[in-house]
Amino acid sequence: MEFSIRTANVDDCKDIARMVMELAEYEKVSEHVKVTQRDLEQDGFSKNPFFHAIVAEVPDQHKTKDGHMKIGYALYFFSYSSWKGRALFMEDLYVMPEFRGKGIGKALMSKVAQLGLAAGCSLMDFTVLDWNKSSVDFYLSQGCHDVTNTMGYHLMRCEGEALQKLAQP
Ligand SMILES: CC(C)(COP(=O)(O)OP(=O)(O)OC[C@H]1O[C@@H](n2cnc3c(N)ncnc32)[C@H](O)[C@@H]1OP(=O)(O)O)[C@@H](O)C(=O)NCCC(=O)NCCS
Repeated sequence: MEFSIRTANVDDCKDIARMVMELAEYEKVSEHVKVTQRDLEQDGFSKNPFFHAIVAEVPDQHKTKDGHMKIGYALYFFSYSSWKGRALFMEDLYVMPEFRGKGIGKALMSKVAQLGLAAGCSLMDFTVLDWNKSSVDFYLSQGCHDVTNTMGYHLMRCEGEALQKLAQP
């Protein structure tokens, strides 16, 4: 199927917000999504963006029954490894269900990898839910490995009241 991948712009935030919710619904965690289209516009497209994104688009003849032509996205930001140096964190990778298995997810992830290499990164991190076997298999098929298994890493978080308390002098 014909598709194209390009850097997201501020006008894509409505569709990115929609797909963020679709991904969260797929992952059965939609109640955790607090980010709005406006947050994405501000945080991704102001002077010092907190994230970057790319979108996958199909031509008009392949649009969904709801009229969507933006059918996949990846959201990432740069990070740093004190062991390996410049790094990239891929926060989201998503392709709408009816467009899966056509090479679009791989093309999105490949583009993120290209952008990371071009910026001097030597690794790309991302998380995946343990039950999401088809995505784990997809990542393994792309040559990625599970550092929770090999190195015992756990993703830790401090948020809400705990974060407020921690920040008190
Ligand atoms: C994961 C996801 C992005 C993959 O995108 P996709 O467009 O369906 O995958 P592609 O068609 O690009 O697959 C590319 C390659 O991966 C392989 N692949 C895809 N799914 C696979 C699976 N479940 N097991 C093994 N290999 C798989 C394909 O065979 C293909 O290999 P090839 O290049 O050798 O032919 C997509 O399925 C998706 O959005 N899933 C739901 C959301 C999700 O789980 N996102 C990840 C959250 S961490």
